[in-house]
Amino acid sequence: MANNYTVRIQGKNSDITVAEDQSILDAALRANEWLPHSCTQGTCGTCKLEVLCGEVRHNESPEYTLTTDERAEGLALGCMATPCSDLVVEPIGGAGDNGIPRFPLRDYAGTVTVLEDIAANTRRLVVEVDTPMLFNAGQYVELIVPGHNVGRQYSLANPPTETRNLEFHVKLTTGGLATDGWIFGPMQVGDRISLRGPLGQFNLVNQQDEAAILIGGGTGLAPLKSIVQHALAERLVPELYLYHGGRRQEDLYDVGFFRDLAQEHEHFHYRPALSEEQWDGAMGMVTDVVLDDFSSCKGMSAYLCGPPAMVEAAVKALKRRRMAPRLIFREEFTIAAPNLAAVAQ
Ligand SMILES: Cc1cc2nc3c(=O)[nH]c(=O)nc-3n(C[C@H](O)[C@H](O)[C@H](O)COP(=O)(O)OP(=O)(O)OC[C@H]3O[C@@H](n4cnc5c(N)ncnc54)[C@H](O)[C@@H]3O)c2cc1C
Ligand code: FES
Repeated sequence: MANNYTVRIQGKNSDITVAEDQSILDAALRANEWLPHSCTQGTCGTCKLEVLCGEVRHNESPEYTLTTDERAEGLALGCMATPCSDLVVEPIGGAGDNGIPRFPLRDYAGTVTVLEDIAANTRRLVVEVDTPMLFNAGQYVELIVPGHNVGRQYSLANPPTETRNLEFHVKLTTGGLATDGWIFGPMQVGDRISLRGPLGQFNLVNQQDEAAILIGGGTGLAPLKSIVQHALAERLVPELYLYHGGRRQEDLYDVGFFRDLAQEHEHFHYRPALSEEQWDGAMGMVTDVVLDDFSSCKGMSAYLCGPPAMVEAAVKALKRRRMAPRLIFREEFTIAAPNLAAVAQ
């Protein structure tokens, strides 16, 4: 049986119990103690902690996220590090939850109810979970790959009011364990699967005065679909612009769904864009289409999701249009394979 250790998070009122084979982040989120995190796979560095007292094991923490010098200085990745003793840790940049209500991390089981092709190499997967999952629009879960006991992250596309039927948009990665080897392989409607969630801090939850520009590349549309539905239902933003980028028409999906929403809601604007095929919609890289549409983005906010290269390009474009960096929120679909974090989906 695994040993348990007590971990004190500086600035929090209570201590948490962490098993020797459990990450500090996993234990904290299960205890509903918020710690900043984004990828939960060692690739982003958002969960960096200072170990003030005690010893940790860094496990598979990659050198590009946590350097040898940082380890020597006592830093660790909360999503990768496991305790070797009782600990006192302090999140770099603080553990503030930014006034957003958080929901504890839990393990879930569910049944695959929908598995359909919706675009080129892209599937919609719906899982009916046995117990409801509470989450914030924009968050993701880890689907556990059967027989491998490893998780892969997939964003929730359903609104948070839908707590039983969880919708995911999955892009095929050739040679990939979860996609090629499972979701695009043997997975069938009726299969039982395991998952854990909710995870992540890419959220639009509270009312805001700024108009919001949402930009998704490929299946980066998934969390934005959840955010759009939530923001419209709760009237969270004065104006909402959704951009979805693909190469060809076969890359776009849910076009009718978003067009209908735009008909119903005067303050919602939907702009799909294609970079490699002529059509009657917007043409060009999605970030260039945004640059053409707005002469200034001052006083606006943005929510960006998709391959890292697209997200980087969008950040640059929005800064050129004078959007404040603190109002740019991003979720990058990095892959977990060692040293391949920057590879786009
Ligand atoms: C926060 C977050 C949210 C995400 N949400 C979504 C989403 O909503 N939809 C979506 O489609 N994706 C999403 N992703 C990406 C997703 O989690 C997976 O990374 C993706 O589906 C690939 O998983 P896989 O198991 O199929 O591929 P992997 O097995 O991880 O392999 C990825 C690639 O690396 C190669 N590879 C693997 N190991 C090695 C190695 N050792 N050396 C060299 N090459 C190797 C494989 O051949 C493959 O080409 C998200 C990622 C993050 C971080
Ligand atoms: S959440 Fe730990 S490195 Fe990304």
